[in-house]
Amino acid sequence: MVATPPRESTSQADRERQKHRLAEDSIETTATIKTLQKENRILRKKLERTTANLQHIEETKRNKESLLKTVIRELEQSQQVLERKSSDLEMTLEELRKTQERLVESEKLSALGQLVAGVAHEINTPVGTSITVASTLADETASFSQILAEGGLRKSQLTGYMAIAQESCQLLSNNLQRAGELIQNFKQVAVDQAHLEQRCFALKAYSEQVFQSLSPQLHNHQWEVTGDEITLYSYPGLLAQVLTNLITNSITHAYGPDEPGQLRLTITQWNSSEVELCYSDDGKGIAPELIARIYEPFFTTARNQGGTGLGLHILHNLITQHLQGQIQVKSELGHGTHFSIQFPIPPEAITSPAIP
Ligand SMILES: Nc1ncnc2c1ncn2[C@@H]1O[C@H](COP(=O)(O)OP(=O)(O)O)[C@@H](O)[C@H]1O
Ligand SMILES: [Mg+2]
Repeated sequence: MVATPPRESTSQADRERQKHRLAEDSIETTATIKTLQKENRILRKKLERTTANLQHIEETKRNKESLLKTVIRELEQSQQVLERKSSDLEMTLEELRKTQERLVESEKLSALGQLVAGVAHEINTPVGTSITVASTLADETASFSQILAEGGLRKSQLTGYMAIAQESCQLLSNNLQRAGELIQNFKQVAVDQAHLEQRCFALKAYSEQVFQSLSPQLHNHQWEVTGDEITLYSYPGLLAQVLTNLITNSITHAYGPDEPGQLRLTITQWNSSEVELCYSDDGKGIAPELIARIYEPFFTTARNQGGTGLGLHILHNLITQHLQGQIQVKSELGHGTHFSIQFPIPPEAITSPAIP
């Protein structure tokens, strides 16, 4: 027979076991709680860090946004300033263009002015002589009239007066004729320069007239026009302007004060369709580094002496645009300057006689 343990002692053992388990559970729970608390702390720290990061990011974002806004505002302002400046620049450019046009016009007029000055100088001599002769004749006539009124005129007095009268008439006639010729020549050149019109003219004779019209400025220099005489239907005024610019440039730039020079123009007709004008002086020449710039508007080495730097620019335009021609320059320091101009002979038939 198996002895059955008393019921009370069994439950006692169970309780002991239970107690033991509870104690074990409690230890385990405490450990778990500690772990959880630790994890909790870590998580909280992470949360704090994340929140701080988030705040930092948001602040950075706000900063960036405001920076961006500032940059956009500044860009807008810069754009407005730029727009204003570019419209100012456009206006300045427009003014410059107008000034340039005005200067080009005044340079053209100055070529004409030089011509007018030349005409005045040339005509001065025959007209001045005529005035002197006329007043001498008037004096002689007055005293002759007085002798005649008083009576007792001698034959020698009559012969003397007649000789003076004849000589005076001859002098008056010669000088007035010379003045008339000069006016006739220069009138044509001046009219041609003022109005760029086409007509028939003899190129060589016309070129000589241009040189003659500038003779007051050429008193130090020798000049000659050689080559073929060609009758052209072209723009004489334009050629007068081209030659005037070349000649005045030689006078102004190629020689020192009172230094004599030799100016040459040679005219060649190459065939029935092309003319060449070779113009040269034997002056100072143009430095190699400047030669490419001489046709630039406003390029001048003589600004202090009133140079505008437009003469060769206008000349280049006249030759290339109006005459459909071309121009080349050769120069060496100390050995003068040589311009060669070629242009086509207009196909218009030469029917009317040429006026030089
Ligand atoms: N025959 C020449 N001899 C020397 N230099 C010249 C001659 N022709 C032109 N030049 C040079 O070319 C420049 C430009 O000439 P141009 O356009 O007529 O202007 P500007 O005569 O007003 O100076 C001159 O300033 C000068 O330096
Ligand atoms: Mg000039």
